Amino acid sequence: MGENLSIVTISLLLLLASTSAVQVFDIKSYGGQPNADITQALTKAWTAACAVAGSKVVISAGTYKLGVVTLLGPCKGAIEFNLQGTLEAPSDVASFKGKDFWVSFERIDSLTVSGGGVFDGKGQMAWQKNNCNQNYNCKILPSNIRFDFLTNSIVRDIQSKDSKFFHINVLGCKSLQIQHVTITAPGNSPNTDGIHIGRSSSITITDANIGTGDDCISIGDGTQDITVNQVTCGPGHGISVGSLGKYQNEQPVSGIKVIGGTFSNTENGVRIKTWPASPPGIASDIHFENLIMNNVDNPILIDQGYCPNGQCSKKSPSKVKISNVSFKNIRGTSSTKEAVKLICSSSVPCQQVVVADIDLVNKGSGGSATSSCVNIKPTILGKQNPPACTTKQ
Ligand SMILES: *[C@@H]1O[C@H](CO)[C@@H](O)[C@H](O)[C@H]1NC(C)=O
Repeated sequence: MGENLSIVTISLLLLLASTSAVQVFDIKSYGGQPNADITQALTKAWTAACAVAGSKVVISAGTYKLGVVTLLGPCKGAIEFNLQGTLEAPSDVASFKGKDFWVSFERIDSLTVSGGGVFDGKGQMAWQKNNCNQNYNCKILPSNIRFDFLTNSIVRDIQSKDSKFFHINVLGCKSLQIQHVTITAPGNSPNTDGIHIGRSSSITITDANIGTGDDCISIGDGTQDITVNQVTCGPGHGISVGSLGKYQNEQPVSGIKVIGGTFSNTENGVRIKTWPASPPGIASDIHFENLIMNNVDNPILIDQGYCPNGQCSKKSPSKVKISNVSFKNIRGTSSTKEAVKLICSSSVPCQQVVVADIDLVNKGSGGSATSSCVNIKPTILGKQNPPACTTKQ
């Protein structure tokens, strides 16, 4: 009995010790004030917080101006970035001095980003200068937030608004959970992808609410083991694996699961896109399941001739090999007749593709929904509306 009690007491003390060990670094203590520029204050608070084991940087409620910052690790221990207020980016691109981000979290282990606050990218002026829709080699504008080379980290309850380019760019991360983020930008804002993931592994995105002008989530090369759970997407271009095959030496994409989610008034639902005339590449083990489509232009799409605005040569086919893909239990409405389009490469036809339990009704003109299959012989299971592969080649 006495022994048990002392064990309890010791555990409690340890618990208290570990809680009180988190040191708070409020930007106010570094001269940060609402309605002022906090670039210096945040940089100082971060540097101090990063140098101790177990710390928390706090930006409390209020609106703050913030210039370009890199919040760099490695830090002494776990570190939290707690944003309760709203951060506003400079609206002119010139003050980014060529940098492709606004706020960057880099080379940190055990980072938590939290607090319910807003990253407001003030993108309206920059969108007018964006020429990436017309120009293959366009100038990349700043993303709102970069997460570069993080490990064992959590991003939860934050909002990103009106980014100049991508909202959240994930590169070289391992074991990152993104939970309950809200992303908003107008449906006509160019290249404002919600979350772009490249060269990363073990990433989960849960309960994201994304309305933007480009892909809600896009998954680039060198990415493995990504799970997207319960995403709400729209407006936007849907969830996309790719585009792949634009560059030399791209690494394989594999182990992608998109489970549960609703797409409303988006250009696409779920798609895999690869450029024609590409170097060889691999996209495998990609599964889309339990999704609702509301008035989506292309609910289900494999597009191996992806070539927006004729920016490429369509003369030779894509050499990115797509295999082990499934589309299961996808229901709702399409705004165009072509609800299902599986257009694979003549050079490397798609393999091991399963299409199961599809129920998509055409809400637009032209009659019943259709399904087209090119360079693919999918395994068809369960309900099929439209009938599978009505158009073949
Ligand atoms: C297909 O993908 C799933 C999920 O990533 C994986 O578990 C399975 O082993 C893959 N099948 C083949 C034949 O590669």
